[in-house]
Amino acid sequence: MSTNKLQLHEKELLVRISELELEIKKLKDKKYGLIWEDKPEDVVLQCQNNIPILREVKNRKIVSDNSAPNNLLIEGDNYHSLSVLNYTHKSKVDVIYIDPPYNTGNNSWRYNNDYIDKEDDFRHSKWLSMMYSRLKLAKGLLSAQGALVCAIDENELNTLGLLLQEIFYGWAIDCVTVIHNQGGIQGTNFSYNHEYIYFVYPRKSGYINPELRSGEELTPFRDWGKENSKREGSPNCFYPIIFDGDKIVGFGEVPKDTFHPKSSNELKGDLIYIYPIDGNGIERRWRFARDTVEEIADELVAKKQGEQYSVLRGKKNYIRKTVWDNSRFNANIYGTQLLSQIIPEKFPFPKSLYLVKECLVAVEQNKNATVLDFFAGSGTTGHAVLELNKQDGGNRNFILCTNNENKICEEVTYERVKRVSKGYKNKKGEKIDGLGGNLSYYKTDLVNVDKLHKISDEAKIKVTYQAGEMIAVREDTLTEVEKNDWWQIFKGNNKITAIYFKEDKEKIKELIKKLISKIEDEKTSVVLYIFGWGKNEYKNEYSSGLIRVEDIPEPILEVYKEINRL
Ligand SMILES: C[S@@+](CC[C@H](N)C(=O)[O-])C[C@H]1O[C@@H](n2cnc3c(N)ncnc32)[C@H](O)[C@@H]1O
Repeated sequence: MSTNKLQLHEKELLVRISELELEIKKLKDKKYGLIWEDKPEDVVLQCQNNIPILREVKNRKIVSDNSAPNNLLIEGDNYHSLSVLNYTHKSKVDVIYIDPPYNTGNNSWRYNNDYIDKEDDFRHSKWLSMMYSRLKLAKGLLSAQGALVCAIDENELNTLGLLLQEIFYGWAIDCVTVIHNQGGIQGTNFSYNHEYIYFVYPRKSGYINPELRSGEELTPFRDWGKENSKREGSPNCFYPIIFDGDKIVGFGEVPKDTFHPKSSNELKGDLIYIYPIDGNGIERRWRFARDTVEEIADELVAKKQGEQYSVLRGKKNYIRKTVWDNSRFNANIYGTQLLSQIIPEKFPFPKSLYLVKECLVAVEQNKNATVLDFFAGSGTTGHAVLELNKQDGGNRNFILCTNNENKICEEVTYERVKRVSKGYKNKKGEKIDGLGGNLSYYKTDLVNVDKLHKISDEAKIKVTYQAGEMIAVREDTLTEVEKNDWWQIFKGNNKITAIYFKEDKEKIKELIKKLISKIEDEKTSVVLYIFGWGKNEYKNEYSSGLIRVEDIPEPILEVYKEINRL
């Protein structure tokens, strides 16, 4: 072997040795938790020398209600979509609901273009690598009070649990069992009729919203117990509840110990004052003290029993149990069959619409919440958000991301959202009213920058020219109104976003003049992204009370560099 070749060989060996030393250190450092063989994924590697961006498919825009929020559908690998969202929606998402491929070994998902089957020795490692890189990106999108909800079955239940503990260290993580298939799927030993949902949320008591029921089941509000149900032990639980007929109108104050009402029902004009006194005249207690009873006032009714009225409670709020068993969660009836009423195309295993709705309300009561699903499939999550908005007049918006395998995004996700937004005819030909809602359809694309860590000036200019739609999404100003060699302008939501592309600032005053006249004519606010080689080069010079100035492309590049360090 020549000396040159030997030296090369030696160099390669030294590199390999240092890689192995790193691996050994990693294994030694890890005392507890998950270890798997990390197989590099093409879509992740692509981001070392490419920048993901968005391109709108304008003819797929859906506008059914100008006053409603904009929803987004992003077609592409979700690693790229999540990368883009780290620039457009950092800390802005309130709920992430996902239903990833379950890794059943039935060729139901692909890693680096190969379907994963049961024989693949790295089946679980590949799934973990895929989930790890996406969950890391997703975490940065959650708002301070945001939560992640993830459906899963027995194939990856345990690995996912450990992965979540690692990524969401310090968060509350609970796992709920859902009976989603009452009949069960035939197995060789057990017939599976359930799957799971992980809830990952900030540690805070009362974070999970109670389950709402109709309140029809009435129980006595007076404590029926024995000695400890008496007035003496809990004087603050002895006070009159005031009714006009069976309708509650208020609560009296806790009386002095020396006061003893003559009977449980005292009439004062048209009103009845009801005290917790039993049939033998013994003074007992209500189940809530005077200072907390008003929280459940709407659950109390008066019912005549014999000659006297007594107070009953129709409890509406129940702390959620960890087994969810409700026929409305049936995936066949309210997933597959429901979807077949909306679109002709088939989709494997959509979730029950009502189950996804329930997951959303369990973690969020904010009617303006932003909801993300980055394994959107047939778009059940988008449908659930539109239904919730219709139900309670909310303004929630959603972002759905899915690949277009077997044309899912175009023919299933998009078609479903379009039909449920605008209205459609079901299989019987009956007209179903639309739920409203607007949608903009984007595809991810990659801008080649050669090396993310050493971007050339030429590549920076290229990124600036192509980042327009991504910036429009960030500012929620989705309609392009003008584009030329110097600038691009978008508008929406009473706001204008302008991007000035060039290092040469010859025409920037012309653009600013134009923007100011728009501010005066259209009473809009304006944000102006100005090209610069670094950061904060033009903020002082061009920002004013009327115009907010932002840099481009440096902040975008920083986000992608950070993602690549993850
Ligand atoms: C289990 S399905 C979700 C079903 C959905 N919850 C519903 O109710 O219709 C998972 C979806 O994620 C999509 N998917 C899988 N890997 C993906 C990836 N890397 N990027 C984007 N979408 C992906 C699949 O095409 C599939 O449609």
